[in-house]
Amino acid sequence: MADIRAICAIGTSGQLGRHGVLPWEGRPERPFVEDVERFFDITRGHVLVAGPKTIAAVPEFAARDRTLVTIRSSDDPQEVLARFADRVVYIGGGPRVWDVYAGFIRHWDINRVPYDGEADTWFDPAWLLAGGKAPRP
Ligand SMILES: NC(=O)c1ccc[n+]([C@@H]2O[C@H](COP(=O)([O-])OP(=O)(O)OC[C@H]3O[C@@H](n4cnc5c(N)ncnc54)[C@H](OP(=O)(O)O)[C@@H]3O)[C@@H](O)[C@H]2O)c1
Repeated sequence: MADIRAICAIGTSGQLGRHGVLPWEGRPERPFVEDVERFFDITRGHVLVAGPKTIAAVPEFAARDRTLVTIRSSDDPQEVLARFADRVVYIGGGPRVWDVYAGFIRHWDINRVPYDGEADTWFDPAWLLAGGKAPRP
């Protein structure tokens, strides 16, 4: 079974998204820029599995040194993950994806950024406790 991880950034109360993008999209302050840099550093060389909008937001330069996989709700999660058995796989969201894949995830990388504004999409702590599907050691 692949080494399955998740990576996300949240605001101070769990904000994940707003109007289809990150709530802090384009903010020039250091913590927001650093979050984007660390996302690309951490996922470099690995597999990034995510919904269509999240994959579409990955710039072309980053597509060259990682494997991008767009998933749809018709895909079988077990089958998707089985394709990358010898790889580190990051599940990049969005929320509907984490709803389904959370139980497979062994490691969560959650970066909390200093954003306390509005959102329409939120981190769900239940994802951390979703059990039953994690690969056995
Ligand atoms: N802060 C963060 O780290 C972070 C990360 C990711 C996204 N976000 C934000 O979250 C918000 C929402 O993004 P989004 O969810 O619209 O983007 P998305 O990445 O496109 O995810 C939604 C898609 O997931 C697909 N999907 C794949 N497997 C699925 C399954 N088993 N069950 C259900 N759906 C499945 C759906 O495909 P079908 O069309 O086939 O149903 C749907 O189109 C945006 O504002 C985005 O910026 C934030």
